[in-house]
Amino acid sequence: ASVRVPVIAIDGPTASGKGTVAARVAAELGWHVLDSGALYRLAAWTVLDNNINANDIAAVALAARRMQIRFDDGQIMLAGQDVTELIRQEHVGNLASRLAPAAPLREALLERQRAFRQPPGLVADGRDMGTVVFPDADLKIFLLADVQSRAQRRCQQLRERGLVPDEQAVLADLKERDFRDTDRAVAPLKPADDAHQLDSSRLTVEDTVAAVMSLWHKRLRQS
Ligand code: DC
Repeated sequence: ASVRVPVIAIDGPTASGKGTVAARVAAELGWHVLDSGALYRLAAWTVLDNNINANDIAAVALAARRMQIRFDDGQIMLAGQDVTELIRQEHVGNLASRLAPAAPLREALLERQRAFRQPPGLVADGRDMGTVVFPDADLKIFLLADVQSRAQRRCQQLRERGLVPDEQAVLADLKERDFRDTDRAVAPLKPADDAHQLDSSRLTVEDTVAAVMSLWHKRLRQS
């Protein structure tokens, strides 16, 4: 029989810090990491770069299936081009969030996401890791943070990239994104029934990582 590879699923709204927390937890455990949002951003980038009609969802899904992606030590390569920074742009994230409700696109990305489940383990972050992609995950975290804290973090990230964020616009954009990601019919953002909710509004990254690790150690003692 094949060995069952453990998964920690970390879901949550945009700018909740799940990407950073997932990467740190994976580093502590020596596990692989899946940034599933990057796949949706890569699909959005592909649509923009190839002038694909975003309303032609069959064409979008087909292009997503054909993407040649390599995740390489923090770098994201698409058909040999380093797109790590390009896909982080706000307009790419926004298009990703607009394309994400389409079932054919989600279906096109499903097996790709599951392929990241390799020994010794996987930490996966996104919106539907615990509900759809890895429903049998060993530990499911739903990482929350109030919208004000998330807006501050997003502004901080933008400043670190040398940009001058419009704080009101960032806040409005987050609210709109929350609504779109939560309100859609297919794989909406919602905690799995067996998810642990963790509010990071007043926690540092270190505290949040420690909280996840402590839940994982508790989980190990139970099995
Ligand atoms: O996590 P992120 O901001 O990089 O994700 C970008 C968009 O991709 C997000 O607004 C919704 C979509 N997404 C999704 O629908 N399911 C996921 N598992 C991850 C992201």
